[in-house]
Amino acid sequence: MRKVMIFADPGVDDSFAIMYALLHPEIEVVGIVTEYGNVSQKIALRNTAYLLQLANREDIPIIQGAEKPLTGTKPEFFYDIHGPHGLGPFIPSVHIPKKIFPFKKIYELIHTYKKQLTIINLSRLTSLALTYIQSEGNIHKAGDIYVMGGAFFVPGNLTPVAEANIFGDPQAAKIVASNGNHITFVPLNISNHAIILLDTMKQVAKQNNTPFSQIIYPIMNYYSQKYKSILPGVEGAPLHDVTLFSYLSQPEKYTVVKGQVQITTESNSKGLTYADFRPVPKYIKNYPMHQIIVDFDREAFTRDFVKVMTGE
Ligand code: BDR
Ligand code: CA
Repeated sequence: MRKVMIFADPGVDDSFAIMYALLHPEIEVVGIVTEYGNVSQKIALRNTAYLLQLANREDIPIIQGAEKPLTGTKPEFFYDIHGPHGLGPFIPSVHIPKKIFPFKKIYELIHTYKKQLTIINLSRLTSLALTYIQSEGNIHKAGDIYVMGGAFFVPGNLTPVAEANIFGDPQAAKIVASNGNHITFVPLNISNHAIILLDTMKQVAKQNNTPFSQIIYPIMNYYSQKYKSILPGVEGAPLHDVTLFSYLSQPEKYTVVKGQVQITTESNSKGLTYADFRPVPKYIKNYPMHQIIVDFDREAFTRDFVKVMTGE
């Protein structure tokens, strides 16, 4: 069983990633850090609580993550795409658990599981950067770190050059990229193509015996309608955050290259990510190497998603 701590901002695609992780027979979720991004931190927390209650997994600690970028600037939220409450048409009726864990729970989980703990970041990188800054080096005791974020020489989704998780707090992303070691970045290069069609989701919802059977189709339908302005003519939408989990589940279906991930914080190209992919790269001394996923087998992604989400 792979033990994972997830940093998330649910949001529709984060919600699918959380559902996927909860349903996957080889993944054990040991904590969810709720962070601003698609929605406010408060709403991310409430939506996480809702998903865990549906799954009857209220034993999983919910951790209070960052509410705004490191610079203290006011974050922009994306209710227009994810729905007024971040879960498509739903207004989740949920009781917020009495015990919400403070930030230091992150360090406790690292301390408890050490190299057994996989860290998954599906949101802005603020809380993860704070973990690097405040954990006094203990973050290096954790296992592998995966980040959904970046756009390497392909268009961004929030600006022409920047992907949303990086753009939302480029200073934080820079701290993570320059202090982390062997982080795996799952960028828009592939996640933009991780499109689940509405017809496929209809089938997933129909043959569904999981605790999520009632919400799967309505939230995807809502998200896909919103995506029509981004992907005209497509009856479906990309599930960016699920791609990362799908990679963990079937790495052989993904193409990974090594690179030194650089992040721009200057205003006119804020959030740009790049790495030296020249045939003979010029590596920067004393700067960490990371993995960047640049290609994948889209059919295999869909097959795996359907299998896990139907609880087969
Ligand atoms: C990423 O940004 C968020 O909007 C999504 O949930 C995903 O994590 C895609 O750019
Ligand atoms: Ca996300």
